Amino acid sequence: MRHIGIGLIGTGFMGKAHALAFRAAQAVLGDVPTARLELLCDTPAERARQMAGQFGFARATDDWRALVADPAVEIVSITTPNRMHCEMALAAIEAGKHVYCEKPMGLTLEEARAMAEAAAGADVRTMVGYNYVKNPTFIHAQKLVAEGAIGRPVHFRGVVDEDYQADPNLAWTWRARIEEAGLGALGDLGCHLVSMAHRLMGPVDSLIADMQTIHETRPLPEGAGHGRVENEDVASALVRFRSGAQGVLCTSRSAWGRKNRLDFEVHGTAGMIAFEQERMNELQLYRNEGPAGEQGFKTILTGPAHPPYAAFCPAPGHQLGFNDLKVLEAGAFLRHVAGGEKAGPDFAEALEFEKVIHAIAASARDGRRVTV
Ligand SMILES: NC(=O)c1ccc[n+]([C@@H]2O[C@H](COP(=O)([O-])OP(=O)(O)OC[C@H]3O[C@@H](n4cnc5c(N)ncnc54)[C@H](O)[C@@H]3O)[C@@H](O)[C@H]2O)c1
Repeated sequence: MRHIGIGLIGTGFMGKAHALAFRAAQAVLGDVPTARLELLCDTPAERARQMAGQFGFARATDDWRALVADPAVEIVSITTPNRMHCEMALAAIEAGKHVYCEKPMGLTLEEARAMAEAAAGADVRTMVGYNYVKNPTFIHAQKLVAEGAIGRPVHFRGVVDEDYQADPNLAWTWRARIEEAGLGALGDLGCHLVSMAHRLMGPVDSLIADMQTIHETRPLPEGAGHGRVENEDVASALVRFRSGAQGVLCTSRSAWGRKNRLDFEVHGTAGMIAFEQERMNELQLYRNEGPAGEQGFKTILTGPAHPPYAAFCPAPGHQLGFNDLKVLEAGAFLRHVAGGEKAGPDFAEALEFEKVIHAIAASARDGRRVTV
């Protein structure tokens, strides 16, 4: 099995998740190429060196352009803040590298489109970090829906909430600026929900939406007054899928008490499926069958019967975690780069998700129904 050289940009939350995932992918999954941890980039250089030692990378740099040009790097992993994704991805594609980019692809739909177009015109593979669709529990939900276990899917209800911007006294940061962060809750959280809705229900055709900035200003450092928050804390949309099914998508980054609430229900003509990300190893299934007095929800605990859970653990109910989703994502990408089947979401599929979040923002701004 061949070795694939990895260049990773960023060593924060996602940088660490990518590094752990590349280290573990072959050991867990077996049938994927070995990731050779070639070059790690961060600023300042001292941090890059320190984290290269910790993560097990051979070399470190503070110059991402040098990483992209490095002949030993075949996959460029981009885990920097949103404003850098497009420039870095375009440079990597130009240099003929495969790109594994964190979500959202870009600050704007134009950036995401440019990235998808560049990838389509080059002989490179791409992957975007929509990791929640890699969960064996979610894959089982997809299978149940596709097999008709709940009849014809007619209504999708999804919520994604966190509370990292709930406190009005939290200091103003670059995250509040459209030029640096792009969308607010929609770009951070809402896009994950769209990725799940899209894979379960198919593409969104049109929607009508509203959004709100709850904390319109935030305190600047050192008592220098207040800075304006330019992007949304909350957004809600009524959507119509191309299949004719309807849906509701809601997101908030100011929802006290919610840490990673990424929940959905798919209502069908013969039953219903419900999922909660904070209980990511469980699926609730209701089927309209059996005597009325014995009907109810069944809790399905994820186990070896739900591939690829067994790659981690032979016993059901022992539970996977967030970083395991990244192992599955990195493994799928290594396999694809080595000539295997595409698992996605690649830039083309992720663009479809990102069209929806930008359509939600456009509908809310203009007060009209928008076709995606
Ligand atoms: N897939 C997910 O579930 C998920 C979760 C969280 C964040 N994200 C996405 O991951 C991306 C990063 O978020 P994070 O939470 O890891 O951020 P972070 O702030 O923890 O990490 C960002 C990293 O980029 C580095 N960096 C900044 N400028 C750089 C430059 N010029 N050269 C090299 N390195 C540079 C920083 O030093 C830091 O190490 C964002 O796009 C975010 O939306 C995805």
